[in-house]
Amino acid sequence: MGREGLMGGLDAIGNTPLVAVELGGGPVWVKVEAANPTGSYKDRMALAMIEAAERDGRLLPGQTVVEYTGGSTGSSLAFVCAVKGYPLKIVSSDAFAAEKIRTMRAFGADVELIHSPDGITPRLIPAMVARAKEIADETGAFWTDQFNNTDMTDGYRRMGEEILEQVKSFDSFCGYVGTAGAFLGVTRAIKQRLPDLHRVAVEPAESAVLSGGAAGTHHIEGGGVGYWPPQLTRDDFDEVVAIPDAEAFASAREAARRHGIFSGPSTGANLAAARQVAARGRSVVTVQVDSGLKYLTGPLYA
Ligand SMILES: Cc1ncc(COP(=O)(O)O)c(C=O)c1O
Repeated sequence: MGREGLMGGLDAIGNTPLVAVELGGGPVWVKVEAANPTGSYKDRMALAMIEAAERDGRLLPGQTVVEYTGGSTGSSLAFVCAVKGYPLKIVSSDAFAAEKIRTMRAFGADVELIHSPDGITPRLIPAMVARAKEIADETGAFWTDQFNNTDMTDGYRRMGEEILEQVKSFDSFCGYVGTAGAFLGVTRAIKQRLPDLHRVAVEPAESAVLSGGAAGTHHIEGGGVGYWPPQLTRDDFDEVVAIPDAEAFASAREAARRHGIFSGPSTGANLAAARQVAARGRSVVTVQVDSGLKYLTGPLYA
């Protein structure tokens, strides 16, 4: 299917606003990615993964797509697959926001849940990966395999280019790391014009693997998966800031009340890290990863 005039909601992906917030210290700008159609920056990567696979024939018309996801990638994939007519099979967990599971189903995805009552444990993501691979092997579905998919990383470059159009110069970028796709795509694009960019990777303090700590259980959805993301190398960042669950949650709540930035725990972690870096007098860009609407029934806004 050509893109001309047939892409419905897909044409609303990207070109999101950038807003300034006062956190103390240097200036901080926040890229408002909740403005994407499913309320998260994952819409960018879902479209990039699907369209690259369409172009080179890995994905054929009507073929089933499969993925493991905490629900943000899944919501975006469900949206893109709905518009483009691909059946979607999702492996997720009840450790993630119920809103995300419902969103995937609203777009018509077939969602299988792995029970994980303690939260995002070190065992959970590997179990989800194994199940998605099993489904791909058994059914011949196209597995987008987000952690290893370089198309998704490239799909975030545009976000970096947009940031450069919106703020001409700044010192640092802070980004919460899950697959590291957004962090890598954005920082690579920015570094082309600002080669001295200070790249700050953000992770949960309770599972601070990038900082050299042990994998652990935490509640900052979307990252801290308990192992080193395969596309990220030590040369890809200049600093790691580890944020405790409680600080990420408090920061997300404060962002809603003080700045009108209504978002989830990973955005809270980004803003908490941005505050630390801005306190050194640096100018910082960070990201509102997704909308607080995805977290209304969970503990964050209870
Ligand atoms: C809510 C949320 N925050 C942050 C991230 C991290 O983004 P990335 O996978 O690009 O590193 C994700 C990814 O799943 C997410 O869902």
